[in-house]
Amino acid sequence: MGRAGGNPWGLQKNETVGGVVRFDIFTLFPEMFKSPFEASIIRRACEAGRVTLALHNVRDYATDKHHQTDDTPYGGGGGMVMKPEPIWNAVEAVLGFDPAGRSDLPPLILLTPQGRPFTQAVARELSAHERLLLICGRYEGVDERVRQYLATDELSIGDYVLTGGEVPAMVVLDAVVRLIPGVLGDPGATADDSHATGLLEYPHYTRPAVYRGHPVPEVLLSGHHAEVDRWRRREALRRTQERRPDLLDQAELSQADREFLDQLQVEEGDSTVLKRE
Ligand code: ADE
Repeated sequence: MGRAGGNPWGLQKNETVGGVVRFDIFTLFPEMFKSPFEASIIRRACEAGRVTLALHNVRDYATDKHHQTDDTPYGGGGGMVMKPEPIWNAVEAVLGFDPAGRSDLPPLILLTPQGRPFTQAVARELSAHERLLLICGRYEGVDERVRQYLATDELSIGDYVLTGGEVPAMVVLDAVVRLIPGVLGDPGATADDSHATGLLEYPHYTRPAVYRGHPVPEVLLSGHHAEVDRWRRREALRRTQERRPDLLDQAELSQADREFLDQLQVEEGDSTVLKRE
C-alpha cells in the first residue's frame, strides 16, 4: 500500500491499492500505467475499494546479470522476442505457484494482435471474475511457449498492431472496471451503452434546448417516458442500421424493431430513388 512522496496517488510497481476485483499487470513499462490509473473513475474505483491494481515489472524477474527480457528469434529474421522465463517467473511469483497445467486459474490473459477480439460481451464476461492477470507483450512478440502453456486466454483490441500490450491492457481494464457493481454511480448506467444491448446507443442531448439554432428533438422535452423510450429505441436501431448493420444480425430484436427497420429500408429506398430523379 503506502503513498510515495511526489506521487499524488502513490501507485508503485509491485504495489496494490483498493480491493474486490484484483488486476495483476505484467509489463516492462509499469510507468506507462501511472497517469491513466491516477485519473478519474479508475482511481475512484481503487480508492472506494472496488478494484485492486498491482503492476509487476517483468524485468525484475529476469535472473541473468543484465536482466535481459528479450532475445533474437531462433531461425533468424529481424526483431526481438520476449523471453519466456521472466514472464513465467513473474506470474509464478505473484500467484505463489506454477500455473502450468492447472484448471483452477483466474484468467491469465496475453494481449496480442492474434488474440480473440475484445468486445463488450468479453468485458462483461471478465467483470464476473475476482482476479484477472494481464500480460503485456512487447517487441516482435512473445515466446510461443508463454502463449501455449502459460496464458489461458489471448485478447486483441482490434485489427492493428501497437508497440506493445500496455495500451490494450489499459483498454481491457477500463472496459471491465466500469462494469464492476458500484464503480459507476448509477447502477443502470451501463445498461444502454453502445454494444451492451447489441446496438449502438441512441443520441444524447442536454441543455440548452436550442443551441446555435439547433433544437433538441421535441419528444425529449415532452416528459412522456414511454414516448422517450420508444424514440430512443428507434434512434438506436436507426444508428446501428446506418453505421454498423453487421451488429443487427446478433442483436435481440422485437417484432416492432424489425418492422421499424423494414420501414427504414423502404424510406432509404425511396430517398435513393428521389436522389436519382
Ligand atoms: N499488442 C500489439 N497490438 C495489439 C492489439 N491490437 N491488441 C492486443 N495486443 C496488442
